[in-house]
Amino acid sequence: MTVALYPYPKVSSELGHVETYKDFAPTHKIPTKTRELEIKSLVEKITSNPSFNPNLKFDASKHIVFDPSYYKSTKTFTLDELKINKTHVPRVTDFGAAFPFPLLSSEAVDMVLYEALQPEIIEDYARLPNLAKGATRLDFHIGGHADDHAPFTDALIKSPEIAEIVSNFFGTPMSVIYNSERAHLNVSLATKDEEEIAKYPSSKEEIMQALNNQDAGDGDEIPSTLGLHYDSTTVALVVMLDLPEEAVGGQTTIITGDEKVVRVPEPKKGYATMIQGRVLKHLASKPVTNHNRISFVNGFAVRGPEQLDNTALTSTKPSVLPRARYDLFYRDWVDYKFTHLEEHLKYIREQVNKDFRDGKGFDQEGFVKKCLNIEEYFKKCYDEMECVNNPPYPSPHFKTKYQDY
Ligand SMILES: [Fe+2]
Repeated sequence: MTVALYPYPKVSSELGHVETYKDFAPTHKIPTKTRELEIKSLVEKITSNPSFNPNLKFDASKHIVFDPSYYKSTKTFTLDELKINKTHVPRVTDFGAAFPFPLLSSEAVDMVLYEALQPEIIEDYARLPNLAKGATRLDFHIGGHADDHAPFTDALIKSPEIAEIVSNFFGTPMSVIYNSERAHLNVSLATKDEEEIAKYPSSKEEIMQALNNQDAGDGDEIPSTLGLHYDSTTVALVVMLDLPEEAVGGQTTIITGDEKVVRVPEPKKGYATMIQGRVLKHLASKPVTNHNRISFVNGFAVRGPEQLDNTALTSTKPSVLPRARYDLFYRDWVDYKFTHLEEHLKYIREQVNKDFRDGKGFDQEGFVKKCLNIEEYFKKCYDEMECVNNPPYPSPHFKTKYQDY
């Protein structure tokens, strides 16, 4: 089926799509060398800790190390401060970004990594990225595994404590979004292959040069596991799971309203940053040195029933993000979007009834406005699906200047 109203009815590798997306992109599997060398040794490092317990249960009081004083002590930026006046979709709040703040204990970080790096998870839920600049066999994504296979990670990311922290920073009630878009790991591993090691800059001068080269690029040239993009979720809570202190580079890089590059300072292990990624152009840069960088990304959106979320499929649909499993991804998507829609419809119906009972009458203009909003939302449920529209990826709008919207 194709919907003729849309200009790109077919998935095509020439347009930057993964053609094998329905079969879970076998072309993008994690190479055996990476599994047997680097991933295996990382798991061994975690399990060799004498206090490590593979059956650890999530306990917010122990594993979340956030203190309410961090709301004040954490540096945050509004969109105005980032000089962003125009956005490609409406902003939800004026929140732009938060610099790193402590969130998870070291024990919690190790559990999230341990659950995600199991061989069967790597086989079933991890894939190399599509089209990322400078990506190698050591750069990949994991995600969609938490609901059914990662009980600690799942309990952590669904915890009301985390939602409260995100909501307070963001300035409106938020909740974590669907399974396929939470507990996503961006992984860049240090190589253990001698020949590959030799290719990394080693002297201080070489390292600085490599970093300067990244900064001088136009944002799209920065090596990354995910190129310059907007997120498809309202806000991303990014927790660092691994980034040694001696690593150079490897931050979230934001493009400001004047199209300049701002690096969010290096978060330490267990620290989190937040950005309103739906309206902020950004990318996750790789370290220029030979070090691991593993971040844990969780999508959040407004909580219902009064408001509808602005989540989209643009950068997360399976033909664009190889680690998204077609059947699972769309089950998660429909379940999330329709649950939200159902709650919103019920809320509006009840409001109309209540207004009538209270003698307030019927607000026709207000109701039509809500219907138009619902129409828009409903369309977003399907209009980016592969059988409908497949514009080139990376989307041309990722490169549009903010001022040109
Ligand atoms: Fe992102």
